[in-house]
Amino acid sequence: MRARPGHWLRRKEVQANNGQRAQIRLGHLVSSLIFHTHPSKGLQGQLRVASDKSISHRSVILGSIANGKTRIENLLEGEDVLASIRAFRAMGVDIVRSMEGHDPIYTIDGVGLDGLRAPDQDLDLGNSGTAFRLIAGLLSSQQFASTLTGDASLSKRPMSRIIEPLTQMGAVIHSAGGKPPLSIEPCERLSGIEFHPPVVSAQVKSSVLLAGLRASGETRFIETAPTRDHTETMLAGFGYPVMVSGTEICLEGGHALTATHVQVPADISSAAFFMVAALIVPDSRLRLNDVGINPRRTGILTILRRMGADIKIENARMQGGEEVADLVISSSELAGCEISGDDVALAIDEIPVICIAAAAAKGETTIHGAEELRVKESDRIKAVAEGLQRLGIEAEERMDGMRIQGGKFRPAEIDSHEDHRIAMAFSVAGAVAEGDARIMKCSNVATSFPNFIELANQAGMGITLE
Ligand code: S3P
Repeated sequence: MRARPGHWLRRKEVQANNGQRAQIRLGHLVSSLIFHTHPSKGLQGQLRVASDKSISHRSVILGSIANGKTRIENLLEGEDVLASIRAFRAMGVDIVRSMEGHDPIYTIDGVGLDGLRAPDQDLDLGNSGTAFRLIAGLLSSQQFASTLTGDASLSKRPMSRIIEPLTQMGAVIHSAGGKPPLSIEPCERLSGIEFHPPVVSAQVKSSVLLAGLRASGETRFIETAPTRDHTETMLAGFGYPVMVSGTEICLEGGHALTATHVQVPADISSAAFFMVAALIVPDSRLRLNDVGINPRRTGILTILRRMGADIKIENARMQGGEEVADLVISSSELAGCEISGDDVALAIDEIPVICIAAAAAKGETTIHGAEELRVKESDRIKAVAEGLQRLGIEAEERMDGMRIQGGKFRPAEIDSHEDHRIAMAFSVAGAVAEGDARIMKCSNVATSFPNFIELANQAGMGITLE
């Protein structure tokens, strides 16, 4: 496999459990990183998982188009967010990383809503659908042309879901078959629209709302099911007037964003791997600190509790406009359940690891209405069903979900399909397998959770790098 030149030079350090620092080159021989898992004797202690990816992207985007200096604490330094940062630097935004003690602080000198400069090359958003769709929305209203590209996985993901509403607003966007790359033509002025999306997607909502910031009149987005609301909440945090009524969001173009201070909580989507691991590995009790528990993200808590999970929420507090808490998880006897409807939208990124919980539970679990999983970083329905079958679990793939019969995991070699969440979900399965397992093509874990291995080993999971 050939690495793209931009990626060839980037290096990332990953800590192996023996304390050695294994250095991997991201994007170079992506298939070469293998997680070798060993059965765990229990997860213990406390830790803070990686910071929230959705909030980190939005901090960079909104900080860049605000007036004044935005300070960001606990920004996720994963590959996806670094791609967002590179894109805005390429459009003339000064983004500085400094250290305060052991903590990196990002300061973004916002250029205002009208201050972005034409990039002098294509914007490469790597593996990140969020960066791609949100930035495409923002750039569709600019008076300069831009081209957005991504890696092999991103290049297969559907973009007609944003091209359609943005075109209705007056944007001119070229693509081959609605897939990246996208070329966006310079635009005089977009017009606000009322949009009823055909898919349930916070990324589509965010793309349209960001396009609406420089459009004439009102942009109204009516969701068919609730999705994560960080864009509307954070726009309000940056002083931009946004009207929210149930699942209807409306904003008028032409107001300004004012720089602010963002504290990014730990990502419940990353916490999910540790939650499930602590539930299914006997003799575990684990505390996950500072986790964002925005109600639009807590579908996983609802589902796992329905399965019988012992998860306590402690020390709940508001931090920078988001609710955060410490989660205390104890090993539990789980039972299969039904998952459908709003459950899916509110736990969309957690479904792969929930499937691992289901496979370790007693009885049957069925998942419906999850066809969106087929167009994530990989076809997650197929990837999970295949992986579970290799572990010896009865898993039946369905068009919009899956049926899983709980059982025991035999040691196996699993293909993660270069998908970070599939790699981490099966690392969790490895913790309760009846022997060592190997998870293949794991380099993309660095997109959302660069220190996953280090924290997994600290908690007692036992993963080595091959
Ligand atoms: C995200 C929204 C979700 C999620 C993705 C992050 C966001 O995608 O899967 O990881 O930050 O808006 P969809 O809204 O397209 O389902």
